[in-house]
Amino acid sequence: MDNALRLQYLEAMGIDVWLSRASMPNGQPPEFEAAIDDIEPETITSATDNWDDLQAEVANCTKCALCTTRSQTVFGSGNKQADWMLVGEAPGQHEDEQGLPFVGNAGLLLTEMLRAIGLTREEVFITNVIKCSPPNNRDPHVNEIESCSSYLYRQQQLVKPKIIVALGRVAAQTLLKTNEPLAELRGKVHNFNNTPVVVVYHPAYLLRFLPEKRKAWLDLTHAIQTFKNNEG
Ligand code: URA
Repeated sequence: MDNALRLQYLEAMGIDVWLSRASMPNGQPPEFEAAIDDIEPETITSATDNWDDLQAEVANCTKCALCTTRSQTVFGSGNKQADWMLVGEAPGQHEDEQGLPFVGNAGLLLTEMLRAIGLTREEVFITNVIKCSPPNNRDPHVNEIESCSSYLYRQQQLVKPKIIVALGRVAAQTLLKTNEPLAELRGKVHNFNNTPVVVVYHPAYLLRFLPEKRKAWLDLTHAIQTFKNNEG
């Protein structure tokens, strides 16, 4: 990304202001409370599961009707042994074309959000709840999420991240098996298969509602703090 565009995104996020204020926050923002949800997801992976099998299964998947409209599946990208795993909702049109997650405008913002907390896309593992793009960028249907859910669980068990960041409502509700609204889920530490989960605004939402950028920064500092608390 050229520097001017990068600065535009940083400005949109308010990151220029944030970074000049201090380096990393030590404590959680006051309005953030810690809470542990005792939700245990189903365990699907076998001890012999591996990336090649999983990738091939996803690439050839016909479990739901999205296989008839996709150009290709979008498995995920980044470091397969990452400490940080980021989970979005569904690939969009650009992702469908390129076979990579978060390559559109939301992806550019996600890259900048990561940069703001000292991470690169190559260091983290990025994937989505569903691996095929729904036509016309519509929300994923429940049956599509259910069909795809075992792939996400298996990815988590192969990556073994130290923290999962759920990007937006659909990712959060799917991972945590809840219908609670995003506002209730942000600012807490949840649990997915013994891995801490924090819930943040989806970058596409932030692009539409820039006034939420301060809350987005709170989400990110909460994620860093959670990661530090669980490191080691
Ligand atoms: N939005 C998502 O949730 N995932 C992508 O890969 C792109 C946009």
